Amino acid sequence: MIDTIINQQPVYILGIESSCDDTSAAVLCNNKVLANVVASQEIHRQYGGVVPEIASRSHQTHIIPVVHEALNKANIKKKMLNAIAFTRGPGLLGSLLVGTSFAKGLSESLQIPMIDVHHMQAHILAHFIENSNVLTDMPATPAFPFICLTVSGGHTQIVKVNSPFSFEVLGETLDDAAGEAFDKTAKMLGLPYPGGPMIDKLAKLGNPKAFEFPHPQIPQLDFSFSGLKTSVLYFLQKHQTENPAFIQENLHDLCASIQYTIVQILMQKLEKAAQLTGIREIAMAGGVSANSGLRQAVIHAGKKHNWHVFIPKLAYCTDNAAMIAMAGYFKYLNKDFASLNVVAEARIGMDINNPTQ
Ligand code: KG4
Ligand code: ZN
Repeated sequence: MIDTIINQQPVYILGIESSCDDTSAAVLCNNKVLANVVASQEIHRQYGGVVPEIASRSHQTHIIPVVHEALNKANIKKKMLNAIAFTRGPGLLGSLLVGTSFAKGLSESLQIPMIDVHHMQAHILAHFIENSNVLTDMPATPAFPFICLTVSGGHTQIVKVNSPFSFEVLGETLDDAAGEAFDKTAKMLGLPYPGGPMIDKLAKLGNPKAFEFPHPQIPQLDFSFSGLKTSVLYFLQKHQTENPAFIQENLHDLCASIQYTIVQILMQKLEKAAQLTGIREIAMAGGVSANSGLRQAVIHAGKKHNWHVFIPKLAYCTDNAAMIAMAGYFKYLNKDFASLNVVAEARIGMDINNPTQ
C-alpha cells in the first residue's frame, strides 16, 4: 500500500513538534528519517508535571538549536527543504504557538509551503516511517483500514484509520488518559514525573497479580481511568495507616499491579474493537505504546487472534518530529498546505482532514 502512496521523487520535509514539553525537529526524505532530534525539558520534574508557561519559554530557547542540529545531522541545507510541517494541535497553546510561529517565519523566508499537522494523527501515521515496526516478521506498514490504539498523556482512543486522511474515533476515554493514569498513580507512589516510564521499569521487578484493582464497566469502546486513580489512592491510604512503610516495601508489586490493570483495561477494548469491526490489522501509537507490558500484551493477543501487529520503535512512540514530518509528507503529496493565517489550536478533533465528513 505504502508504495502506491509514497512518491519516488525525493521530497525533504522539516518536521517541528512543540505540543507539550518536548521540542523536536526532524528531517525526512519521503518516509525515511534523516534526523530526529528531541530536546526534553527536564525542568518540569521538580514540579511533578508540565508547567505550561515554563514549557513555552523553554521551547523558545530550544527550537533554533534543535532545528540546526536536525539539519546538520541530516546533512541538508535549508534551501533543499521542500516544505515545513508543524504541529498545529492539540496540545498546550503557548507551546504550540512557538512551533507554529517558527514554521511561519521559516516558510516565509525560504518561500516554501508549510503544512499543519494534527498531533494525534501524526502519532498514528508514524507507522509509515521506514522501518517503524519493531516486529520484523510482520508487514512493514499496516493496510487500510486498520485499528490503532492511540494512548498518550492527553488521549486514549481506539481509531479506525481508513486512509492517511480519514480517522474514525470508535471509542475514547471519558475522563483521564492512560498516560495520566500512569503519571498520577506514579505520583502517589512518590515517583518523579513522568511516571509512566518509571512504573514500567519498576514493574519488571514485581508481581502483577500481587494487588487487585477494580476494572471500570464502561459500555462499547470507551474507557475510564479516573476510578482506578481513586481506588489506588484509597488503597494506599488504608495500607499506609497500618504500615507507613507500605509503599517502600511493596513498590515493585504496586507498579506491576497498576501497570497490569491499565494494560488489561486497554487490551479488553482493543480486542473488542477487532472483534466488532472484523479488522485484523492492529497498531498502537502514542507515548504509552512505549510501555513494555502493553507491547507484550498486544504481541500476545496478535498471536492468539492471528492479527498483523504494528508496534512502533520507541523513538516514534513518545513525542517526536519525525512523525510530524511523516504526516506532513502525506499532506504534501495531496498539496494540502496551510495558509499564513493558520492558528495553533489547543483542541482539534481527529476528523479535521476527513474528506468524508
Ligand atoms: O505521546 P506522548 O509522548 O505525549 C503526549 O502526546 O501526551 O505521551 C506521554 C505519556 C506520558 O503520560 C508518559 O508517562 C507516557 O506517555 N509514557 C509511558 C511510557 N513512556 C511514556 N507510559 C507507560 N510506560 C512507558 N514506558
Ligand atoms: Zn504525543
